[in-house]
Amino acid sequence: MKTVIANWKMNVGTRESVALARGVLLALRGRSCFPETVLCPPFPALSEVRKVLARSHASLGAQDLFWEDAGAFTGEVSPRMLLEHGVTHAIIGHSERRQHLGETDEMVGKKTRAALEAGLNAILCVGETAAERDAGAQEAVVERQLRAALTGARPKGQARLLVAYEPVWAIGTGRSASPADAAAMHAHVRSLVAKLAPALSSRLSVLYGGSVDGKNAHSFLREKEVDGVLVGGASVKHTEFAEILSAACDVIEAQG
Ligand code: PGA
Repeated sequence: MKTVIANWKMNVGTRESVALARGVLLALRGRSCFPETVLCPPFPALSEVRKVLARSHASLGAQDLFWEDAGAFTGEVSPRMLLEHGVTHAIIGHSERRQHLGETDEMVGKKTRAALEAGLNAILCVGETAAERDAGAQEAVVERQLRAALTGARPKGQARLLVAYEPVWAIGTGRSASPADAAAMHAHVRSLVAKLAPALSSRLSVLYGGSVDGKNAHSFLREKEVDGVLVGGASVKHTEFAEILSAACDVIEAQG
């Protein structure tokens, strides 16, 4: 199984989101394989994109959530509200939220546990900055982030964990990690999850994110350690994203 996740960020409104979702379904039509495809539009577009995806193989994801179910938390959206909208996945702890909105490891932990306890599939983003990599601290940073996010997690039902390894220096820069570096970090993530949250390790996917595009997607996806990709910039370009989906299909077909 390979997973392809589109993180449209705040780049598109509802009309464009609907058009992108239709394009994704078109790109998947006629193929005999189905990568797990998750589309994450901005909150206001969720219900319209849900209609497009009805009865398709693609899933609906949110870009964030709050850890409480209800209450006086102006502007926030709870796991329960997302479930009402047909959302099955939620991105948590994206580096842009950590950087611009002050999300701490502790907040990311509360969100991850809340998502999993509500039965949502948590797409947990981790990754080091350029300075941290220069200092050789990337493995320690990812360990710290995973420990804070997963300690005490109690998934409900079949809720899965998808860890997206996204080095901050690779996001939106056109400078991706090498597939070999990604694969090495993915192995580290897998062994950490087995220690920190054994219940989740049998339903864990480890994805790579950071400047994935139509040209390099195949080189990541063909790595055994890479269960999929989380795509930002290239996911709002119809042709580019279709190429990524096609690369995932090619790998699935080649690997049988
Ligand atoms: P990018 O973003 O593909 O534009 O580098 C990835 C992400 O932020 O998830």
